[in-house]
Amino acid sequence: MKNKAVAIIVAAFAMAITAGIVYADLKKGYYAPDQLGVQQAAPAALSTDSDYQVSAYAVPTLELAPGDGRQDVQIYCNICHSPRYITMQPPLPAATWEEEVNKMNKAYGAGISEDTTRKIIAYLQNHYTPETRKQ
Ligand code: HEC
Repeated sequence: MKNKAVAIIVAAFAMAITAGIVYADLKKGYYAPDQLGVQQAAPAALSTDSDYQVSAYAVPTLELAPGDGRQDVQIYCNICHSPRYITMQPPLPAATWEEEVNKMNKAYGAGISEDTTRKIIAYLQNHYTPETRKQ
């Protein structure tokens, strides 16, 4: 009789531990919102129709000085970073612009053809040196 009671108690313990393990495993990785330290804003509601607002892609090209070669700069110097990298420099000496464009080609792998590279250097020298920069 005593052995039976002990067996029942052991079995009850084993079931409780098993249930605890199964429950912990089910809850693994789940955190209720109030358990998270950081409260996040609710995500924006998704549109339920097919109306979308579109507009022109914002390409910051207008700030470059107009002139021969500007289009090449817009095409080739816009691939890895904004052309603002040019306008945010202080007016640089002509030789520095040449080194700068060569650095983009050689060190950073811009791979711009020789003709276009020359055009771009000329453009930068004609518009962005201490003597030529107007804006
Ligand atoms: C292949 C990618 C690539 C292309 C194309 C490219 N650049 Fe860069 N440029 C870079 C990287 C990388 C940096 C350094 C970025 C940084 O420090 O945040 C950089 C930085 C610059 C800077 C800031 C000064 C400096 O030396 O770090 C200027 C000015 C610049 N580029 C001008 C140009 C011009 C002009 C062209 C077009 C001839 C051009 N870039 C095309 C990758 C490129």
